[in-house]
Amino acid sequence: MIIQNGYYINMKDKKIEKKDIRVKDGIITEIGERLELANEDQIINAKELYILPGLFDMHVHFREPGYEYKETIKTGAKAAAKGGYTGVLTMPNTNPVIDSVEILKALNEIIKKDSMVEIFPSVAVTTGQSGEVLSNFGELIENGAYAISDDGQPIMNEDLMYEALKEKHKLKIPILIHSEDKRYVNNGCINEGKISRELGVRGISSKSEYEMIHRDIKMAEELDTSIHICHISTKESVEIIREAKSKGIKVTCEVAPHHFYADESIVPKKKSIAKVNPPLRAAQDVAEIIRGIKDGTIDAIATDHAPHSSKEKQKDLYEAPFGISGIELALPLTLTKFEEENIDIFRLVDMMSINPRKILGLKPELIEVGSRANMVIVDLTSTQVITEESIVSKGKNTPFIGEKLKGIVEYTILEEKIIFRRS
Ligand code: DOR
Ligand code: ZN
Repeated sequence: MIIQNGYYINMKDKKIEKKDIRVKDGIITEIGERLELANEDQIINAKELYILPGLFDMHVHFREPGYEYKETIKTGAKAAAKGGYTGVLTMPNTNPVIDSVEILKALNEIIKKDSMVEIFPSVAVTTGQSGEVLSNFGELIENGAYAISDDGQPIMNEDLMYEALKEKHKLKIPILIHSEDKRYVNNGCINEGKISRELGVRGISSKSEYEMIHRDIKMAEELDTSIHICHISTKESVEIIREAKSKGIKVTCEVAPHHFYADESIVPKKKSIAKVNPPLRAAQDVAEIIRGIKDGTIDAIATDHAPHSSKEKQKDLYEAPFGISGIELALPLTLTKFEEENIDIFRLVDMMSINPRKILGLKPELIEVGSRANMVIVDLTSTQVITEESIVSKGKNTPFIGEKLKGIVEYTILEEKIIFRRS
């Protein structure tokens, strides 16, 4: 394969270079100006397009086993490839929960058979994600899991969390923490604040998130172990993590595109489609998240891709499930916001490709000779208006239908395969 005339993102030298890229047997063999054709089977004309390392989403819900009507490994993987992703980490809140070797092995069989992207499963910290008993996660990691998480549910019991952290430290496993103190959630459905008062619905306070982050950072410090905080959404979360990092505590975190592209003001119009946990917050939270992206407090962008059926999402704010289908629009949402905020493409690649892999202990993918071909080719300058018909995920539940966004994925390439092509 040869990719001609594109601008590739050279992360080592932080340069954008107009070069041709030759790929043989899935490996990048040559990068140079006007490479001669050598009987390549596939010629990609990347004129005016940009070539980025393949994106990695460290937080997706592909719903299999148990909720195949919302998403399957196959449909989730297809949506990922369309979004420019070559790899994802799946969350274990399926039915059954991924908490035993038998269930994990069955999942890995489905992945092998059905996925066009690389899928790394995570497994539950506690059996059934009940928050009561630790799962045998050491054994699960030996049998094909890559991280532990009770995502979707917090681990309220502090002693149990302490045990989990001690164990994960010993085994050197990444833990991905869903920080939510149920005592402050109040059966709420959206952010507690101006909008919840206007609509007269119960709100979820910011405290429910940041108090838990505070609790777990203290334990990470004491045990000198690393923790990763999922989907941060509040101003205080950014501030607490910033301060912890400055003290050398090993905490990393991710933000979802909906938490920096939008705020709670879209809820009255979008209703349950904009219902997500943690909820869309206030404008001042978004402003602090942007500061956290700019100063490196926030390490990664992860989608928390949470597909649900249209029927479920048509319910009212209390009844509808939490979640936004996010993997197809993450890149355009980020490109659009980053342009507005003057954040460069290198930071974007760091947050959407390099850092997620690093946090999980995977090798970051770079575009250089000798590396495997793992890339996404993007039209960075064109805009598109998002339609529901364009979404290939089973979950059409995104509040960004009708939005005009910058950036169109043209090709996603993994080794010798073009796993997505727009036209
Ligand atoms: O909005 C959310 N949806 N937040 C979560 O933590 C879980 C997820 C889901 O599984 O639907
Ligand atoms: Zn999640």
